[in-house]
Amino acid sequence: MKKKTYDNDLMEKIVSLAKRRGFIFQGSEIYGGLSGTYDWGHFGVALKNNIKQSWWKKFVDGRQDMYGMDAAIIMNAKVWEATGHVANFADPMEDGKQFNTMLKTQVGAGEESATSYLRPETAQGMFVNFKNTVDAFHPRLPFGMAQIGKAFRNEIAPRDFLFRQREFEQMEIEYFIRPTDWEKYFEYWRSEMIDFMEEIGLDMSKVHEIDVPDQDRAHYSKKTIDFEFDFPFGQKELFGLAYRTDFDLKTHRLEYLDDETQERITPHVIEPSFGVDRAVLALLISVFNDEDQERPFLKFKPNIAPVICAVSPLLRNKPELVEYAKTKVYAPLKRELGRVAWDDNGNIGKRYRRQDEIGTPFCIVVDFDTLEDDTVTVRDRDTGEQERVKVSDLEKYIKEKIS
Ligand code: GAP
Repeated sequence: MKKKTYDNDLMEKIVSLAKRRGFIFQGSEIYGGLSGTYDWGHFGVALKNNIKQSWWKKFVDGRQDMYGMDAAIIMNAKVWEATGHVANFADPMEDGKQFNTMLKTQVGAGEESATSYLRPETAQGMFVNFKNTVDAFHPRLPFGMAQIGKAFRNEIAPRDFLFRQREFEQMEIEYFIRPTDWEKYFEYWRSEMIDFMEEIGLDMSKVHEIDVPDQDRAHYSKKTIDFEFDFPFGQKELFGLAYRTDFDLKTHRLEYLDDETQERITPHVIEPSFGVDRAVLALLISVFNDEDQERPFLKFKPNIAPVICAVSPLLRNKPELVEYAKTKVYAPLKRELGRVAWDDNGNIGKRYRRQDEIGTPFCIVVDFDTLEDDTVTVRDRDTGEQERVKVSDLEKYIKEKIS
């Protein structure tokens, strides 16, 4: 039996913090919203980008056997007819009627107009470019293709904030192997997925691996593991790992010719699939800490935090402090680290509270002593402790802390 834990209070706190601090807003909010869509504010985009960049760095730039892709979202309807999505990508309606959840669109005008679909998974954009990739790069098996991009599903009942949306983002890998190697590579990718979850800072005590039973697996899969997460609304799918066999390449009539042996084979596929939005939600839940009700904070790892450090003058009506903070601290750090915030709103206590809620690991304050001795206060988010650091050492100090 699956554990059922419902913590509406925690969900409300996270949704409200995400809006208040400029992470995530309801889509089309001022016109009453559009169900299943969300808009990302400044800090939300930064957080999402950090997750996507960590993924790309680990699985594409950090490897020698992976080829990146960015395929079109609108694809020829024939793709989806071939894969069985037009016939089968459906959810049951309350009255028992099946409802196809692909989002339809019309491409072109008048007689030229044709029905098409916004892709329900990024995967097919890679499969249909298998031949192009092989012809361009001549990779040897095993090798992979990787893509980050939007996917769309006309979910009958979008719900639970970012969990079930109609427009969302996926990070997917199609890893092409010889059929006899599938168990080895399935196990390999299982462990790579766990590494990634640890790297971005998910609470691994909330992650559960579920071997999906035959009757619940997608039609193309011979084995699937779901990584489920203890969301406040229950234990639900976070990411998936599937052995897709040769289903997709066979469907598209694509083959691989081994240059050396002249052997022609249809490679099999292991597919690690990550939802970006579910990663963000699981991360927010993992790092949210309000043990001290006076001081709730997001305990992001510095490599993932939307802001690495915030710079403040102690008083914003003292031009000499503002000038020093802006030119000698904020500008050089911003140039070097990028994710640096300027915060002079309200008193210092309020600024600390605000940066805690954004999850900023370090707050730097320029005060009157700074003008005398060129040192600043650096406050640590997690301990609240403060240290005096020389301005000339700041960049090195922060870099060491985040590495
Ligand atoms: N290519 C395989 C595939 O698309 P999936 O399990 O249907 O498999 C992969 O989707 C991942 O995409 C899920 O594990 C989840 O993280 C994310 N996902 C799927 N539907 C979603 C939705 N409606 N809203 C947000 N994320 C979704």
